[in-house]
Amino acid sequence: MNAAINDNPVWRSLLYVPVNVDRYVDKAHTRGADGVILDLEDSVTPSEKDHARTLVQEAAVKVARNGADVLVRINRELELAVRDIEAAISPLITALKLPKVQSADHVKLLAELVDSLEAKRGMRVGTTRLIPMVETADAFFSLHAIAKASPRVATVLLGGEDFALDCGFEPDPEVYQYPKQQSLLAARAAGLTPMGLIGTVADFSDAEAYRAVVRHSAKFGFEGASCIHPSNVAVLNEEFSPKPEAVAHARRVVEGDKKAMAEGRGSWSLDGKMIDIPVVIRAQRLIARADRIAARGNV
Ligand code: COA
Ligand code: MG
Repeated sequence: MNAAINDNPVWRSLLYVPVNVDRYVDKAHTRGADGVILDLEDSVTPSEKDHARTLVQEAAVKVARNGADVLVRINRELELAVRDIEAAISPLITALKLPKVQSADHVKLLAELVDSLEAKRGMRVGTTRLIPMVETADAFFSLHAIAKASPRVATVLLGGEDFALDCGFEPDPEVYQYPKQQSLLAARAAGLTPMGLIGTVADFSDAEAYRAVVRHSAKFGFEGASCIHPSNVAVLNEEFSPKPEAVAHARRVVEGDKKAMAEGRGSWSLDGKMIDIPVVIRAQRLIARADRIAARGNV
């Protein structure tokens, strides 16, 4: 945990939009997502990859019309990845999502290309964030190093379906708990905001079940997630925002603590529960997060 946490983006909801589906791109800005991920990877067929890449900048302008951050998910194959990064780097693109990252060095090499493109394009070097996705059993054991691979890393994600495929397990919330929690700890250890669901993005259509998964994930400490359907956005935004009652309680804790401190009391009680330093810090963080969410303006 460190001050970097407050520099981290507030991304409760990141909506995947296949960049070559005009119908989706045209209305994506109306869906209320904190960020839109223009996908060049698995939602785009191999024969469409070259064309899809040419659409990125124009689509970025469209999907950002209501203030969403714009991310681009590139392809893993090096030949495609290089072209995708060349097509993506611009002041309109906040972050790149890197699929099937193998190691910290993999992130560092791609970051090197981003460095030189930013410099060539007159951007401040370091502005484009990276989101490595760990989708193999092998990379799983490097989560910690991957999260710390570059100051550009915004969070580290554990892939859903691809990870289950590589590990030979069912894409089931129960089975995901252990690896997803590891990704959360890796993110925290690197001072990053943990993102993800203890489940997969593919289970989008049962609204009640989806909300239960998001709520469960928020309880574990995740602060946002990607989704593939606009109907999921509001649920992510709601469940990943501190509840008003929780914010009100946190304000009482912080106020009460000021009084207690003035009286020389490091621990005191509120509503029958002991309040001491970690509880106060947790309350301060909750308030800070609520303020940052409110500042996004699309609550
Ligand atoms: N982004 C933006 N808009 C989307 C969208 C998306 N990912 N998915 C659906 N929509 C829109 C549709 O255009 C439709 O809008 P309209 O009614 O205003 O015209 C509305 O949301 C409802 O769509 P619906 O008919 O329920 O979706 P579908 O059954 O046609 O498609 C999916 C379902 C899963 C195929 C589709 O949501 C999708 O392709 N999602 C993205 C998948 C992806 O990116 N995968 C890679 C990441 S894992
Ligand atoms: Mg994948």
